[in-house]
Amino acid sequence: MSVVAPEPLSSNALRRILDDLQAERAAPVPFPPGPNDFNLERTFRFVRDPLPILLPLYREHGPIFSVRVFHGRVVFMLGPAANHFITVSHADRFHWRTGSMGDLIPLLGDGLLTIDGAYHRRARRIMLPAFHRERIAAAHDTMVEETMRALERWRAGEVLDVYHWARRLTLRIAMRALFGLDPDERGTGAQAAIEFERALAFYGTDFAVRVMRGPRTPWRRMQVARKALDRIVYAQIERRRRDPDPERPDVLSMLVAATDEDGSRLTDREVRDQAMTLLFAGHDTSTSTISFMLYELARHPATLAKLLDEQDSVLRNRAPTAAELMGGEALPQLEMALDETLRLYPPAWVGPRRAVATFEFGGHQVPAGAYVNYSSWASHRLPDVWPEPEAFVPERFTPEAKAKLPKGAYLPFGGGSRTCIGMRFGQLEIRTVVTLLLQRFRLELVPGRTLTVRQMPTLSPREPLLMTVRERGVPAGLAG
Ligand code: HEM
Repeated sequence: MSVVAPEPLSSNALRRILDDLQAERAAPVPFPPGPNDFNLERTFRFVRDPLPILLPLYREHGPIFSVRVFHGRVVFMLGPAANHFITVSHADRFHWRTGSMGDLIPLLGDGLLTIDGAYHRRARRIMLPAFHRERIAAAHDTMVEETMRALERWRAGEVLDVYHWARRLTLRIAMRALFGLDPDERGTGAQAAIEFERALAFYGTDFAVRVMRGPRTPWRRMQVARKALDRIVYAQIERRRRDPDPERPDVLSMLVAATDEDGSRLTDREVRDQAMTLLFAGHDTSTSTISFMLYELARHPATLAKLLDEQDSVLRNRAPTAAELMGGEALPQLEMALDETLRLYPPAWVGPRRAVATFEFGGHQVPAGAYVNYSSWASHRLPDVWPEPEAFVPERFTPEAKAKLPKGAYLPFGGGSRTCIGMRFGQLEIRTVVTLLLQRFRLELVPGRTLTVRQMPTLSPREPLLMTVRERGVPAGLAG
């Protein structure tokens, strides 16, 4: 069966705001309860830190409410049942493209994050083999090599921004594993990394700045970077079409060669959009998780000690294999610490959708066309689901405790048929980086610095995450 690519969406921000206001006026049923006045102060507070707005609204209204942010009314659905409703049982009632994922189209085009329905199912079917266990395991060597290299320059006593360090490292891994590019090669690999960071910076700017158009605006800078990046990516695709090599392990090669059940392939444009989407979805998320995990381990010496004991007894100073890192059984302490990190700081903190038709949940109707969000971040901090939700307690994730979690309670990778396609890749990368680092070094927080979190486009530390490097095994009091 042939499926057609979706219609383009307008990237004119004003046009979209007017469309939203019109859609709200035409709503066939009232919105769920919640603050509805235009309120700049609330909007700014929401942009800075949404949890102090979402959690009280949950207390007041329960798992479904609406809140006006910027110009528009947004329905939030929180908690296990709501998450399961949106991601699993009623997933087909929601679109990604016409919700705020659509804002990514100017950079990503029509990749997995911005398409729906049959077109999405076909793309996902074609792409899935590239994310099978053995394919991901093949990227492990690259992950080890790059991490060792990135640690080589560390010296005891130096202070570094761990987020910045991890970001550079994960981008190098992505360039090699996803695009088969050598990040040290001037003009191609190195340039691609620079252009990608430039393009991505657009999505970290404030909404008010992002809608601006014209010379010297972030929008224009993103367009320029996108064009430069496209030239590099299309040249790589062309090379692979001209000279197919089934031994090439990078994801781009697999996407170029992959076929659907009817023998059809992805076009160059489709390969480009999907590859760019993978880079986008995988880069910030892994970087932030590594950073938050190192931060929490530095604050919890008892958890760190358990993790190091486990490393010593299982690995005895050798690098972990992909098999040891992929199951979770070989290194359970590592696994629990990662799970708990992703509970407190799920980088893709919000799942933005648009309701295809009017529906009912929790005794309230939601009009067709409404923006509807689930939020793992808020859901992971509900006190009626997670006792002492602010505390870092990896034991919440022993295999027995995990099995007892209600359906939909924990979803750092989303859920249902659109669960994160890069989950295995991301988990393997994080486990590899953290394990190799902790085998050699211990990170200490710089006194007096507290973590504040920014959430656009994904959760990340707002300020540089400064930490002091110590040799492993030197107690803090004795270190110089
Ligand atoms: C710690 C690492 C990661 C986390 C926490 C994470 C989280 C998520 C979440 C929550 C979703 C679903 C969003 C929603 O329901 O609205 C998602 C989807 C997705 N992720 Fe990840 N992700 C991670 C790493 C990666 C990596 C490494 C890649 C690519 C190599 C990737 C590619 C994608 C793609 C393409 C989708 C869309 C899937 C679809 O719609 O079929 N992610 N991710």
